[in-house]
Amino acid sequence: MATPIRMAQVIKNVSLSEIVAISATHARVQMDLDIAEDYAERMAQGDVFPAVVVYHDGQVYHLADGFHRFRAAQVLGRESILAEVRPGTQRDAVLCAAQSNAAHGLQRSRADKVRAVEMLLNDSEWTMWSDREIARQTRVSHPFVAKVRARASGNVTRSERLVRRVNHEYQMDIRGLQADKAVNINELSVVEDHDAGESTLANVGALEEAVEPVFTSQVGDNAALIAHAARLYIPDRADVADITYGKGVFWRSVDTQGFKSFHPSDLLTLPDQQHDFRDLPYADESMDVVIFDPPYVHNPGALIVEANYRNAETTGGMFHDDIIELYREGMHESMRILRVGGTLWVKCKDEIESSIQRWSHIELYEIARGMGLYAKDLFILTQNARPYIQHVQKHARKNHSYLWIFERRPSRLD
Ligand SMILES: C[S@@+](CC[C@H](N)C(=O)[O-])C[C@H]1O[C@@H](n2cnc3c(N)ncnc32)[C@H](O)[C@@H]1O
Repeated sequence: MATPIRMAQVIKNVSLSEIVAISATHARVQMDLDIAEDYAERMAQGDVFPAVVVYHDGQVYHLADGFHRFRAAQVLGRESILAEVRPGTQRDAVLCAAQSNAAHGLQRSRADKVRAVEMLLNDSEWTMWSDREIARQTRVSHPFVAKVRARASGNVTRSERLVRRVNHEYQMDIRGLQADKAVNINELSVVEDHDAGESTLANVGALEEAVEPVFTSQVGDNAALIAHAARLYIPDRADVADITYGKGVFWRSVDTQGFKSFHPSDLLTLPDQQHDFRDLPYADESMDVVIFDPPYVHNPGALIVEANYRNAETTGGMFHDDIIELYREGMHESMRILRVGGTLWVKCKDEIESSIQRWSHIELYEIARGMGLYAKDLFILTQNARPYIQHVQKHARKNHSYLWIFERRPSRLD
């Protein structure tokens, strides 16, 4: 049933100017500019990347796989890129793109999966395929395909229709993007893309999110912070481990039922899942998201110890360096259970020890970098309540904490 992949392929350098890289064959809703930039840096340092995949129709090469590598080469002002050249048309590139991204280390967002399904639904022949066949091609579940198909066939809300119309006029096209503009998404050339046809639901999702942005800083509580970050960083059907569950305050505003699996554990508060975060019972590379919120200050004292956190019980006699060491060990174990492309969320707070500033969030950043993690984002939470000031102030009283989102980078490349 599937269009057979023709195997007469060669690997050679192809001029960037001959490669057509348009949204119609890009199976991701948006380019991750951080990744493209990172690839560019690594290319500049001499790292060898796998060939991108292009389809040659006799005139131009249609990019099917490797948009981030292509972009990185543009950023560097390269003339050409190593490409696996297959004979075929833009349509072949679309099918290849819809199939390929599921196999890569870079995790697909829900919107990416919708996009892959829609790439097939938008084709007059492929749309006749059964939900199961489209699911097989795009590596999603068949109920997921059914849902996207139903919505695409007209069962959409008024706001979706509105965004569709707007989006139809502004399909993104990165053809001919100049290297000096490539790192700034605001400067992407925006043109009408007739080939893309009706706008995609995936892009509708992206635009709707743009209406309700996720910000880096907020005033509130941990539950609101986690719900906020989850919108961006917990993918659909994720395997999630909270290895310092405490009393589950983090999850008060998140529907954990939507996860594929949820694994709470704690040394003190969960007798049935009593696991030390330095020695977890999970398999290597089995989680998409690991949440880590250990006791974050040394010698918390009576004022800070409260029913939810019980920090003093596990940190008696510890100094700041011991706390950081505890973090290091937990992060190391988290890395083990994290899938490539998954994220490790580390909650922390700076502190003052013996009148000296201890910038925990910077120390943890260095540790994460040393482990090969990429600092994907940093959220700052300012507490609602006015903090109690005990004594004459020598430093500004800290009333904020941090949430790092570290990403385990793919070993295979997009
Ligand atoms: C700051 S609290 C976490 C609060 C939690 N995020 C919540 O939403 O309620 C720190 C938690 O880490 C747990 N903990 C401390 N040392 C641990 C260890 N070695 N392994 C597992 N859990 C530990 C404590 O029992 C405590 O519940």
